[in-house]
Amino acid sequence: MTEPVLEAVGVSKHFPVGRGRAVRAVEDATVRLYPGRTVALVGESGSGKTTLARILARYYPPTQGEIRLSGGEGHSYRRQVQLVYQDPFASLNPVHRVGYILGRVLRIHGHARGRAEVREQTAELLRRVNLPEEFLEKFPHELSGGQRQRVVIARALAVRPRVLLGDEPVSMLDVSIRLDILNLLARLRDEQGLAILYITHDIAGARYFSDEIHVMYAGQMVEGGPADSITEGARHPYTRLLLASAPDPDRVANGSGPDEELGEPPSLIDPPTGCRFHPRCPAAMDVCRDKVPPRSEHGEGHWTTCWLYAKDDE
Ligand SMILES: Nc1ncnc2c1ncn2[C@@H]1O[C@H](COP(=O)(O)OP(=O)(O)OP(=O)(O)O)[C@@H](O)[C@H]1O
Ligand code: SF4
Ligand SMILES: [Mg+2]
Repeated sequence: MTEPVLEAVGVSKHFPVGRGRAVRAVEDATVRLYPGRTVALVGESGSGKTTLARILARYYPPTQGEIRLSGGEGHSYRRQVQLVYQDPFASLNPVHRVGYILGRVLRIHGHARGRAEVREQTAELLRRVNLPEEFLEKFPHELSGGQRQRVVIARALAVRPRVLLGDEPVSMLDVSIRLDILNLLARLRDEQGLAILYITHDIAGARYFSDEIHVMYAGQMVEGGPADSITEGARHPYTRLLLASAPDPDRVANGSGPDEELGEPPSLIDPPTGCRFHPRCPAAMDVCRDKVPPRSEHGEGHWTTCWLYAKDDE
């Protein structure tokens, strides 16, 4: 396979909360993003998904580990790595028209100069997200949620990034338009070779849109691999619970699903010993409480960290 565009290698993020204590939001996470491929990051609320995306976006530095962008960072990092947030309502300045919002980014990054060039390129950006040119004249409040998110994506594209980090980019949108936006992202990935990180609560839907799925639990990656292999042959008990409680896989839904059934998520200031999932795991054994489970490989890049699959008990 080609080189990753962007990779996080063994990154951790600890947020200090006083008296020497810290929220260990992300621990020893590794993820690699490749051109023209999508990696989905799934896990319940508070599992560290946004924190990992922000580390990848250099929004904050990791406490440990390394972020590597291929080809170096010659141009500004933000030009190459763009974050798309969950809320398209909060993401657009309400006082400007769409044309201004897009044009400003083109000018700042030196991709277009002069009125005619800006007009032409802003219209082209709208075409790429399936919006008509007339939308250049509209204000954000005149757009639906799905239309706004298309504008947000167009604005990210205006920078001409190599990597798009989507932090639950469709979860606030009406179910009926989620698929449209995901198909749009898939097309941009295929046509422009964008590397995409897709954060979602919806593991079943992630399968249709992603090449790989990584599952996070309480700040740690617990399972990862090819999307089909994860959804058809999940090994980790947490992944299995996520899948079992996922809504109809033919629907792109986005509820927080199993959170309620699983009970309270663990503290990240004082996380459970051994396997962090042990207090909630239906398959927990004695060893799970005491020792951190090792990583096991299941072929074709599918791996998990769980004592059930450890070769020997040490
Ligand atoms: N700036 C911060 N300071 C302290 N704690 C933080 C900070 N940002 C996040 N956290 C904590 O880190 C943990 C992980 O948060 P994060 O936002 O990454 O989760 P998430 O998986 O994105 O959740 P959700 O699905 O709800 O968006 C949470 O316990 C959160 O409270
Ligand atoms: S290591 Fe033990 S507690 Fe953790 S997921 Fe596996 S069986 Fe469950
Ligand atoms: Mg989040």
